[in-house]
Amino acid sequence: MSSETLAARTPAVTTKLPAVGTTIFTVMSALATETGAVNLGQGFPDFECDPQLVHAVTDAMARGLNQYPPMTGVPALREAVADKIESMDGRRYDPATEITITAGATQAIITAVLAVVRPGDEVIVLEPCYDSYVPNIELAGGTVVRVPLVPGTFRPDFDRIAAALTPRTRAIIINSPHNPSATVWTREEMLRLQDLLAPTDVLVISDEVYEHMVFDGQRHQSAARFAALAARSFIVSSFGKTYHVTGWKVGYVAAPASLTAEFRKVHQFNVFTVNTPVQHGLAAYMADPRPYLELPAFYQRKRDLFRQGLARTRLRLLPSEGTYFQCVDISSVSDLPESEFCLWLTREFGVAAIPLSAFYADGFDQRVVRFCFAKRDETLNAALERLARL
Ligand SMILES: Cc1ncc(COP(=O)(O)O)c(C=O)c1O
Repeated sequence: MSSETLAARTPAVTTKLPAVGTTIFTVMSALATETGAVNLGQGFPDFECDPQLVHAVTDAMARGLNQYPPMTGVPALREAVADKIESMDGRRYDPATEITITAGATQAIITAVLAVVRPGDEVIVLEPCYDSYVPNIELAGGTVVRVPLVPGTFRPDFDRIAAALTPRTRAIIINSPHNPSATVWTREEMLRLQDLLAPTDVLVISDEVYEHMVFDGQRHQSAARFAALAARSFIVSSFGKTYHVTGWKVGYVAAPASLTAEFRKVHQFNVFTVNTPVQHGLAAYMADPRPYLELPAFYQRKRDLFRQGLARTRLRLLPSEGTYFQCVDISSVSDLPESEFCLWLTREFGVAAIPLSAFYADGFDQRVVRFCFAKRDETLNAALERLARL
């Protein structure tokens, strides 16, 4: 056979991620669109960001700031991030050697994992957890060690975390404020983690993307506030969450210089750098701290509006201490498993939610689903009207 008559054949590939399929987020969003349901499933705002932020970015574009920025991020943005962390959490990270701008928190997390996890290393995740953690660890050849948060309260269970630590444990991924449970770790819980890890070489990847959404006068307990914890942590955050621009996919990592050096070795070859005008725009916009300082009040008002409406339904409210999520117990409404309940709720009542089982590798079902309240008041009211019929 000559090369002109050869049949085209794509070689078969053995998947690296056999457990990964279409996520429930995609399924629920597609169903919400198809059925015209109010989409309180996937976590993103349905309102616009501050026009001044858009202006700052378009201004940077118009000024010709459109070529590759430094690999580590635009210096002004790294400086602004260092200033913000210092003012919020009292620790100064060196913008030159300890802060890196990333393509959202998602790229920050996988980059940290790839930088430090080797085949055979164990990495602890606390379930329920954000869906990228487990595949990230698997891609690095690591072994995922799942430790449940206490069912019902979703607090960390330090006895179980302690029992999961072995000489092979390389890292633990924590997330506070927590998606999906909307819990916020207390100072005491952070101190317990710090004490527990003190005799070990375990690293921490601290996913703090909802850092500016903490309610009822509580404060976000960043790993940066605890010297011994900060010394072993990659702290990850996302401008997408803080500034209502999830589609821009820009975030950052703060970590001690030696960890940042390893992080950047991977970063420069998996993304190299992050888009320039958005970085300049964010740097200019961050000069005013009010947008992030006012965020707790902004989201607390939405949370309260949503909770007041939900309290009039047969769904049982769980606490929402932070994030833009509200979980509810469905057991007094339906006997269906969580995921079937969400499909039924979307089709029959026109409101999309996410089952908590989607955040557990084994699909653990505790009759709890998650709503996102980062929505216009009219969207929340439309959803509440429908949920009142349950
Ligand atoms: C806990 C958590 N971590 C990380 C991310 C990803 O953030 P980004 O959009 O900046 O990649 C999300 C987004 O939903 C999240 O909820």
